Amino acid sequence: MLRQLLPRCGRALRAPASRTPYALPTLQRASRWYSIQPEAASVAKPLDIDPTKLSITKTQNPKTPKDPSELVFGREFTDHMLTIEWTKNDGWLTPTIQPYQNLSLDPATCVFHYAFECFEGMKAYRDSKGQIRLFRPDKNMERFNKSAARIALPTFSPTSLIDLIAKFVKLEERFIPDGRGYSLYLRPTLIGTQKTLGIGAPGSALLFVIASPVGPYYPTGFKAVSLEATDYAVRAWPGGVGDKKLGANYAPCIVPQMEAASRGFQQNLWLFGPEEYVTEVGTMNLFVAIRNKETNQKELITAPLDGTILGGITRDSILSLAREKLAPDGWLISERKITMPQLYEASLEGRLIEVFGAGTAAVVSPVRKISWKGKLVDCGLAENEESGEVANKMKTWIEARQYGDEEHEWSHIC
Ligand SMILES: Cc1ncc(COP(=O)(O)O)c(C=O)c1O
Repeated sequence: MLRQLLPRCGRALRAPASRTPYALPTLQRASRWYSIQPEAASVAKPLDIDPTKLSITKTQNPKTPKDPSELVFGREFTDHMLTIEWTKNDGWLTPTIQPYQNLSLDPATCVFHYAFECFEGMKAYRDSKGQIRLFRPDKNMERFNKSAARIALPTFSPTSLIDLIAKFVKLEERFIPDGRGYSLYLRPTLIGTQKTLGIGAPGSALLFVIASPVGPYYPTGFKAVSLEATDYAVRAWPGGVGDKKLGANYAPCIVPQMEAASRGFQQNLWLFGPEEYVTEVGTMNLFVAIRNKETNQKELITAPLDGTILGGITRDSILSLAREKLAPDGWLISERKITMPQLYEASLEGRLIEVFGAGTAAVVSPVRKISWKGKLVDCGLAENEESGEVANKMKTWIEARQYGDEEHEWSHIC
């Protein structure tokens, strides 16, 4: 009965011309209307993503890829996008690769009001044989699904989406410049598209993947950054969603970042609680290498995944490499809490070996100093050094696997 009252999903997704309250430019009028009526979400018949159904519509106006030396992070996009719609009635609909274009969304769509949005950040690399590789895409999919589930958005088969992303990346292959440090940054994004101001689980969603060619984070070699410890705001808290990659986690981080920048610091360091635990740096995980006060043993420390830390794929890779390659040399590898006073004490006592951030964008980002309570804490780099030994090694080891110089299960050939 209800089904008869409702328009079929395919039709419901198209905007009747009369619904458009003002004249849209031709391009927008021709594009898809993704928002649906709230009622269309009432009968569950979930289908998973089916990569065999992929439909591809190629652009009529292929772009000339930009000169690699002119690439600025996240400014340039490829010719196409991958889109997959979901409705509560039908599950995941036909995956589509189509020309890169605007989305057409009703102003009442829930993503605009209640931040039903999560995303991923991953890269595709060209190896020396010209093959295209993804790095640990299973980890990105696992995190993407966890983020989606936390905000009542639909989850999906990780292998099916990896399959589709691989096909999309192959289609956009010509946008991946040759050379170490170059890659295609991929932004899988999932938004709630239900048209309603009522707060509830979205009855429809859109998953899309866009791609942006990027150059080396450090075109002329490492450049160590200095941080300002933020003590007046927190990024995440126990029981919160700081361990999920939700868009809503990022906007509130910009003001502390701008504050730090206004005082000459490239990034802010997130502290937590009266103990002032060091948690993350900007949008990277943080690693601290110290010598133990009693035993003098070298220890590589990063904050544990206690729900306030985003489980970075680079973090996980560094921990794994450290256990494989540093532990045999006597290093202790620890996922444990460390406070800012402990870090300061290690610095004063000459036991702080190095500090670095870790994330997909830069792989590692060495830290020179941390401004904290009016002090400038020295993080162990000599004045003429831009990176410590551990950060250097990690970058080399991880890139060897990303670019396929070392054949490894982390690398997924498209
Ligand atoms: C808050 C935050 N922490 C850590 C990371 C590093 O994660 P990954 O290594 O997966 O890029 C990111 C980047 O996505 C992030 O946004």
